[in-house]
Amino acid sequence: METREIRIYVREFAKMEELDENSQKLLMLARQTASNAYAPYSGFKVGAAVEMANGELVAGSNQENMAYPSGLCAERVALFAAGSRFPDVPMKSIAVTAVNKDGKIPAIAAPCGACRQVMLESEVRAGQKIRIILDGQSITVLEGVDSLLPFSFKQEYL
Ligand code: THU
Repeated sequence: METREIRIYVREFAKMEELDENSQKLLMLARQTASNAYAPYSGFKVGAAVEMANGELVAGSNQENMAYPSGLCAERVALFAAGSRFPDVPMKSIAVTAVNKDGKIPAIAAPCGACRQVMLESEVRAGQKIRIILDGQSITVLEGVDSLLPFSFKQEYL
């Protein structure tokens, strides 16, 4: 038996103004888009915005349904819309934010496992790492989905 340590590097920013201009813009768009969420059941509003390599920005918010599993997370709404509008353009970055039913931002707007898996596929399609900007009490920036989803399922395993 061997114990191995797996390191993940994250950058933490105390406030949005410390981010580079593009990342600020993307996070602002995610924040604006969170207000469009349809979340009558959880009251948890999530916004995501994707920056494409051609400079286009595509945003999405979570869309709930009275048949709960029929709803979709903000990240996947944005990622699928981006893939649908620009199938041949790599994705560069994604920003994610959330506010709970009391209007509070969580410690970190961490994407669920299914959204991480979809981000991974977008990264594989892009052939380059996607920057992930997670809003929260501070802003966390990760370079590549590997940092969010270690031991991921890979196509080469098939
Ligand atoms: N949600 C997202 O939009 N993204 C995530 O990564 C986690 C959860 C949404 C789904 C549901 O509408 C609400 O947040 C509460 O789970």
